[in-house]
Formats: sequence, structure tokens, C-alpha cells
Amino acid sequence: MGPAMDSIIERLRGVPWEALRLDLALPAIERVLSGSAAEREVDRSLRSARDLDRPGRAALVEAIFGVALWRRRLAFHAGSPEARLLLFALLRDLAGREDAGALCGVAQEPPRRPAPEPLADRFSLPDWLSALFVRELGPEGAAAFAEAICAPGPVCLRANTLRCSREELAGRLTAEGLTTRLALLARDGLVVTTPRPNLLGLASARAGLFEAQDEGSQLLGELVAAEPGETILDLCAGAGGKSLQLAAHLQNRGAVIAHDPDQERLQRLARRAAKAFATCIEVAVPRESDRVLVDAPCSELGTLRRGPDARWRKGEAAAAGFPALQRALLERAAPLARNRLVYGTCTLRREENEDVALAFEQAHPEFLRQMPAVCPTSEGFFRCLPYLHDTDAFFAAIWDRR
Ligand SMILES: C[S@@+](CC[C@H](N)C(=O)[O-])C[C@H]1O[C@@H](n2cnc3c(N)ncnc32)[C@H](O)[C@@H]1O
Repeated sequence: MGPAMDSIIERLRGVPWEALRLDLALPAIERVLSGSAAEREVDRSLRSARDLDRPGRAALVEAIFGVALWRRRLAFHAGSPEARLLLFALLRDLAGREDAGALCGVAQEPPRRPAPEPLADRFSLPDWLSALFVRELGPEGAAAFAEAICAPGPVCLRANTLRCSREELAGRLTAEGLTTRLALLARDGLVVTTPRPNLLGLASARAGLFEAQDEGSQLLGELVAAEPGETILDLCAGAGGKSLQLAAHLQNRGAVIAHDPDQERLQRLARRAAKAFATCIEVAVPRESDRVLVDAPCSELGTLRRGPDARWRKGEAAAAGFPALQRALLERAAPLARNRLVYGTCTLRREENEDVALAFEQAHPEFLRQMPAVCPTSEGFFRCLPYLHDTDAFFAAIWDRR
């Protein structure tokens, strides 16, 4: 068992399972197993039982998220895909409760089985994802990756350097009762060490002193190497995580041109920019710029640890269309990049990463690929991984115009 699995088991052992309300948990778990999102079912169950005490709420949340994530491993132990037996296996085989039968109303307990060996059973993965992890990372890397994505990952903040340094932010957060440590790789990153922090309730959040942003995402933004006075095009800006970061790198001198076809996301970006004092961001039609970031739409397999059931809500077929879109986005970006072009994804699939980048540079000899200073691969790309860097998985290629 690796370190992630140890801490998962320890957390499950600490849940007050005796407070679990089966009448709330079982229907929610059944809906999750039929395809409803676990997050939605947790919200719905908690809202329907507002009088539930703290231990009851904790047990309900862990039961729904636990079965959502571990369903395949639990079916192995239970010998059945039935919701009540899966919950029973969560309590008996992962959380180590001897009274699991009584707590779950299971009279005929299935026989105990040792932990399964195959990756897909051990870390509760669909077959196609298990095969993809092995293909991309080799057997050892796949096991380490699969284990790492069974834990939710740390909460990482980016100090908004338009307002304060990360050291000043750490001091402010300590005064507000939140402990942090410096991120090891991202220059403005702070990793929260207080368990289950309520970030939205903090005065420093209301003052726009930080953004929650995974450390890997921050590293990707840093690859642009934006300098004050430059114009930066963020071609796939979305709700603006990286636009805000780039505005901070510019120290509001110059411009970040934010583009995205999704108007709702751009509206969120505008609200976040106002709160963060990021005055140099323009939501505008793409135009020639010193540097261009293509933070491309992708299959998002690098962020699977962010949702307990994310792995069960994705399909292999849905990823098929991304490479053509990614190539088209790079073709659109290339003539607009005066100096640097950065292509990034949060996925592991070679078809969306190396293959897209290599095809682009074959067609564009005017761009020369640059080796990243952090997280370089042997092929000269950027890749960070949860089990190596404690980040979500991101890929990037960096080119400078010759
Ligand atoms: C990975 S997300 C961007 C995340 C964002 N950069 C951030 O840091 O928060 C990819 C974005 O690409 C956008 N997108 C999809 N099709 C696009 C297109 N044809 N041109 C530009 N952006 C597109 C999506 O709407 C989505 O917001």
C-alpha cells in the first residue's frame, strides 16, 4: 500500500459510521450508481435532512462519495453491485468496521476476500482508463497515478501579487486561522494544510488576495513567462484562472486579451477580474500579441482526483474529437504569436498532447521548441503528475518564434 492509500484508509476509519442514516444514504447511492453526479446527490441529501447533526452529515457525505469512487473495488469485495452491499463493503473492507453488517442492515455477510491485484479492481477504475494509464505511464507509473487520484489532492492557492506577496498572504491567512506551506514549484503558490478549509468565508478571499488554483495549473501559466508591458493572448480563457495569473505577472502593465466561445465563463472571468484588481484584462477578439497561451479544451484526465466519481462519468469515445480541435486552435494561434506560443492540456492522452504538438511543429518550422525549466519530459515537453509533484496532471509544449 502506498502513502495515498494509507491516508485514505485512515480517513475512512475516522468517519463516525455509527451516525449513518441508511434511509438517506441508500437512495442517494442508488442514484449515483444510475449515473447521477455524486456531488449533486450529496447536496440533495444534506438539504433534505437539515436537522442532521455533524456526525450524521459527515457519515452521509463519506458514504455517498466513498461508494461513488470505490464502486468497482467494493463490488469485488461484496461479490455484488447492489448499493447496500457496496456500502457494507466500504465499511467492512476499507474502513475496517467489524459492525458493518449491523450498520448497513446486512444479515448474510459475503465472505471476506484479500485486496485485489489487477489495477482496475484495486483502484476502482473503468477498464479503458486502467489500460490508458498503463499505456501512458508504464505499469509502475499507472499504479502510482491510479493511487494518487483516489485522494482529493491538496487545496492550492495563488497569491494575487497585484495585492500582496505570497509571504504576506501566508501571514494574513495564519491570522485568519488557516495554515499553509509554500508550494514547492509554483512561485506564488501556497498549499493549505488546514483540513477542510472554508475559503469563501475568509476576509482575505473577499479582498481578492488569492485565487484557488492547482499548483500544476500555476506552473502552466508560468511557462508563458509574461513580462510587464507585454500583450498576452489567452485564446481559451474560460472563467479566467490563467488570465488572472497572467495579469498578475504583467503587474497590470500591458494587456491580457481573454477569448473564449463560452459567454457564461467570460462573464465569470469579468467578475473575478474586478475582484482581483486585474485591470489589464480585456475580453476581446483575438489579435496579434507578444505571447499566446492555448489552454486547450481536452479530455481532462489529469484532474480526475477532483471528483470522486469523475472517472465513471467519462467515456473513451468522448475524447476522440479533441485532437482535431486542438490542432485547429494552434493553427489559429500561430500567426498571432509574435514571440512565444504555449500549448497546454490537463490530460494524459498522447493523442491530445505530444501528437498534437509534434504535428504542429512539423508544419511550423518558424517555431522552435523550448525545454521547460521545471517538470521536463525526456522528449522535451512539460508534464507534471500527482504522484511525482502533488499537482493535477498537466502537459505543455513551449515554442519561441525563430
Ligand atoms: C481548459 S479550459 C480553459 C481554462 C482556463 N484557461 C483557466 O485557466 O481557467 C478550455 C476552454 O476552451 C474553451 N474552448 C472550447 N472551444 C474553443 C474554441 N474553439 N476556441 C477557443 N476556446 C475554446 C472552452 O470553453 C474552455 O473554457
